[in-house]
Amino acid sequence: MNVVFTFIIFEDLFKKKRLRPAENYNNILEDFYNFKAEVKVASPGRINLIGEHTDYNHGFVMPSAIDKKIHFKFRKNAHDNLCRIYSETFETYAEFNLNQISKSKNSWENYLLGVLDEIQKCEKKLSGFDCIINSELPIGAGISSSAALECGFASGLNSLFNLNLSQMEIVKLSQKAENNFVGNNCGIMDQFASVMSKRNHFIKLDCNSLEAEFIPAEIQNCKLLLLNTNVSHNLAESEYNTRRQECENAVAIIQQKYSAVSSLRQVTFEMLEEFKEEIGPKSLKRCHYVLDENERVLKTEKALQEGNLKALGELMYASHRGLQYQYEVSCPELDFLVDFAEDKDFIYGSRMMGGGFGGCTINLIESDKIENYFEEVKKAYQEKFNITLTPITVVPDEGTRITKF
Ligand code: GLA
Repeated sequence: MNVVFTFIIFEDLFKKKRLRPAENYNNILEDFYNFKAEVKVASPGRINLIGEHTDYNHGFVMPSAIDKKIHFKFRKNAHDNLCRIYSETFETYAEFNLNQISKSKNSWENYLLGVLDEIQKCEKKLSGFDCIINSELPIGAGISSSAALECGFASGLNSLFNLNLSQMEIVKLSQKAENNFVGNNCGIMDQFASVMSKRNHFIKLDCNSLEAEFIPAEIQNCKLLLLNTNVSHNLAESEYNTRRQECENAVAIIQQKYSAVSSLRQVTFEMLEEFKEEIGPKSLKRCHYVLDENERVLKTEKALQEGNLKALGELMYASHRGLQYQYEVSCPELDFLVDFAEDKDFIYGSRMMGGGFGGCTINLIESDKIENYFEEVKKAYQEKFNITLTPITVVPDEGTRITKF
């Protein structure tokens, strides 16, 4: 955004009084108008080829960062404790005092406050700073704009204040920020992918050991097409935490006899059979799904290495059906899109992606068919749900990029 345009937006915001009360608007206006960044960060969203709801069960996932990002500009200001943050995308301004970090009523602020809190818990010294945020990532689309926000913010502060946090520390503290401040008990996949990815590779991440293998994303004449349902059912957060609990309950039962078991990763199908009465039918379905999905990730790695897109696509469809019927985190809009894709021979695989209850499907589709297919599926989706479908083509890209001036 050029300087004049930025100035106009600020002026407009002050007139409309959309900015929260601050001591002196004119000073802020002038200051942000002259923003000279000391650090810039490009923080990507992520896709996940396969391995859904396995991360918090210490299983396998196969995500990658994408070429769609949140961009940050940072600079120190003259204050000891004042943080001033402006989101160009949402035309929103927030101020925080580093000595009084607590949860906010405005949910987007909690991603940032959580990061500040975790950094300060590491006994790292921050002082006043300004930050401008600009996002290309749609919210609620399942491409993890939240991890991009947390990790980008943490990485920028790390660079601005020379905090010496490692990439892994940034991943972990960003996950904790989301767990503790946002209240979403998420696993580590999104933050890991956003920070650690390599261009044109998927990460096969073992969420038990946190060992990562980079698998070349050789998808031949295909592309990865995300179809955004543009729905985000409000069950998402509570059901996410419930699924996690259902899995942990089963582990607790099995642990009583097998004390070495600490997560579903150490659980076998035989153990599930042995304890099926105690675990109960619902949790049992969830556990079966997780064990199957872990196997699918390993088979996907092999299929990718062999260049077998047909096998890879079948694993994607199987993953979706597991999420639909066993883990029960899909929704009619996502199922419709996967059903619509399934009989097209130029689409190798399709599945819901991320936490579920809305967001995107990820489709492995022949590149030259994308345009016509999108028109066809968009029309059918509109007729069925009266909602406009949005396409997002993505390529696996590098993780967080930091530029210091
Ligand atoms: C969300 C969470 C991740 C992961 C996925 C489901 O994106 O943030 O940790 O659990 O859902 O695979």
